[in-house]
Amino acid sequence: MKDVLVRFAQPSDLEQLARLREVLWPESSAEEHGEELALILVGTFPRVMPLVILVAQAGDGTLAGFLEVGLRSCADGCNESRAVGYVEGWYVEENWRRQGVGAELLRAAEGWARGQGCLEMASDTAIDNLVSQRAHEALGFEVAEHSVLYRKTL
Ligand SMILES: CC(C)(COP(=O)(O)OP(=O)(O)OC[C@H]1O[C@@H](n2cnc3c(N)ncnc32)[C@H](O)[C@@H]1OP(=O)(O)O)[C@@H](O)C(=O)NCCC(=O)NCCS
Repeated sequence: MKDVLVRFAQPSDLEQLARLREVLWPESSAEEHGEELALILVGTFPRVMPLVILVAQAGDGTLAGFLEVGLRSCADGCNESRAVGYVEGWYVEENWRRQGVGAELLRAAEGWARGQGCLEMASDTAIDNLVSQRAHEALGFEVAEHSVLYRKTL
């Protein structure tokens, strides 16, 4: 991976991260993402388990991608006796894909999770997101379960 540095996100990344998050999660606006990021990046986001953001910074200072990793007390297919590292979000800009940036972000996330005492890593992706499935499986994940999500209005 040429000229890309993977590091923990810092408050000065907020604007770029908000834009990248909006591409991955368009249900919220960049402004809304910015409000949430402001809390996450200074460690005051109201969440029981820790969550950190890793970014891949290109040589010109722009962000090529990010990965949000947190702890979950359990995840499908994982040993329930110990918290697992969970990939909450993973995004690489299109012009940076297939150059190892996603893999490097995941490697750093796994290092963080190991440091938190985790022995397993878990993640999820949409059934029609074949690229994400290929990437997960190429990087060592195995399918734990296929499930159907339901909702109804009350
Ligand atoms: C998934 C994603 C983060 C991968 O990032 P990336 O930087 O392209 O990943 P890498 O270059 O490190 O790829 C690692 C391996 O995954 C597999 N892979 C990645 N993209 C692939 C594709 N389009 N087709 C087939 N395999 C692919 C390959 O085996 C690849 O290794 P190789 O290039 O040496 O063959 C990126 O495609 C992305 O941002 N997608 C849109 C958002 C998304 O779906 N995020 C995941 C939601 S959970």
